Amino acid sequence: MSKTTVGESATTKKDLNEFEQHYFSSYDHYGIHEEMLQDTVRTLSYRNAITQNKDLFKDKIVLDVGCGTGILSMFAAKNGAKHVIGVDMSSIIEMAREIVELNGFSDKITLLRGKLEDVKLPFPKVDIIISEWMGYFLLYESMLDTVLWARDNYLVEGGLIFPDKCSIHVAGIEDSQYKDEKLNFWQDVYGFDYSPFVPLVKKEPLVDTVQHTAVNTTRSKLIEFDLNTITVADLAFKAKFKVEAKSQDFINGIIAWFDIEFPAPEGKKPVTFSTGAHAPYTHWKQTVFYMEDDLECEKGETLEGEITCVPNKTNNRDLDIKIAYNFKASGSDANTRSKKNENFYLMH
Ligand SMILES: C[S@@+](CC[C@H](N)C(=O)[O-])C[C@H]1O[C@@H](n2cnc3c(N)ncnc32)[C@H](O)[C@@H]1O
Repeated sequence: MSKTTVGESATTKKDLNEFEQHYFSSYDHYGIHEEMLQDTVRTLSYRNAITQNKDLFKDKIVLDVGCGTGILSMFAAKNGAKHVIGVDMSSIIEMAREIVELNGFSDKITLLRGKLEDVKLPFPKVDIIISEWMGYFLLYESMLDTVLWARDNYLVEGGLIFPDKCSIHVAGIEDSQYKDEKLNFWQDVYGFDYSPFVPLVKKEPLVDTVQHTAVNTTRSKLIEFDLNTITVADLAFKAKFKVEAKSQDFINGIIAWFDIEFPAPEGKKPVTFSTGAHAPYTHWKQTVFYMEDDLECEKGETLEGEITCVPNKTNNRDLDIKIAYNFKASGSDANTRSKKNENFYLMH
């Protein structure tokens, strides 16, 4: 079985551009893996999706794209896979080698260091791809590109991808206090005017846990992706949303989150999880886009908009996001309350 041995990599790190070097270095330290492993919603969803579908894994060749510490590879090996190939560019894979050996899976799991796009797999095709590739706002980090590359180059016809369905959702929130604190801080920093920071702060989406009580509109599914069929081009998208105010309140931000679904045989309930404010905590938290306007809404009024999301030209793991919104108020003060605007953000 062809393996990269300890310390050897199919990709020379210094040949990668500075953004890629930085990206893979961010996964070298165990701390980030500890956070992911301790995210039980995340990790148990993968384990459940595998253990509840042992029949699908029995005697199959599995590719773990971005194996990290090897957790998903071991779930697959323990649940009937014939052989698992785990690939990771980061040095954490050296720890995965130790862990895999310590837990008695060395003969079932082959670990290869390097970029997935550069390694030579010991099998020409695989039956199943497993990967935990999701970033903030689902697409930050652009690791899904690599999973789609693996699908196109290694997955057998009719092979499975775990998970294979995902969707991004949005809603309105009232969060005036935090928004004001975040912006006002820069107006007076120890007696100095730091306001040039304000435009930078406004451009940056906030990744944080949002109390579900702050969500004051209905939810809207922005977009869904089927990993069996989408292409990398589909990940640069423009999609409309429409939400309805649940009470008379201000809307000053858009909260976004994603949902995930794993494959399941016909008639069997698939394993799913949500990263929304209404769902249990995950390390992805939620992403908040504060709006330029504070929209003064009456119950039942609708906020319509369109979100454009494209990989940043300088660093394609960052996202350029535009939110265009049109709030049409009703009643005698409709003119003063109605707002139409476009706000720009950079997720980096
Ligand atoms: C979000 S972590 C998931 C780690 C592990 N699968 C888990 O569930 O705990 C993603 C991993 O994918 C690796 N990765 C991302 N893109 C890659 C690529 N193109 N080739 C190889 N590894 C990659 C990163 O180094 C990182 O360790």
